[in-house]
Amino acid sequence: MVQRVLVINGPNLNRLGSREPEIYGTLSYSELAGAISEKALELGFEVDIRQSNSESEIIDWLHFAADSQLPVIMNPAAFTHYSYAIADACAMLGEPLIEVHLSNPGAREEFRHHSVITPSATGVIAGFGVDSYLLALQALSRLLLSKA
Ligand code: DQA
Repeated sequence: MVQRVLVINGPNLNRLGSREPEIYGTLSYSELAGAISEKALELGFEVDIRQSNSESEIIDWLHFAADSQLPVIMNPAAFTHYSYAIADACAMLGEPLIEVHLSNPGAREEFRHHSVITPSATGVIAGFGVDSYLLALQALSRLLLSKA
């Protein structure tokens, strides 16, 4: 059976390519999604990649992942730093959750240093641009193999 994985991207990530390229790079959101799909295929995952600027939509997707027992790779974007509602939804997940960031929030402004998501995450990968997502897929693959 093919392992499904949900990849969730938070607010403003649909603007990749034009959004602060000196921080987030010049890759567009669709190019990021393409790179994730390619890596997922290589690892034998069926990947469902979503992006929303809405907190409520992201919460609904996390409920769906909890109900469907799906592992999640999520870049919560700015919600990382203050959304207790998304943090509460993450706490309901029964499968691995990998938090990813393109930049390294710990090396940026003070308000980015704290993540309310990390306490529910299996692990965090930050600072490697698109590779943060690809490394997350790789880590998830190993994790699920070690559990099988
Ligand atoms: C981000 C880092 C967050 O602090 C920021 O609000 C984002 C993107 C990243 O991928 O580096 O929107 O999650």
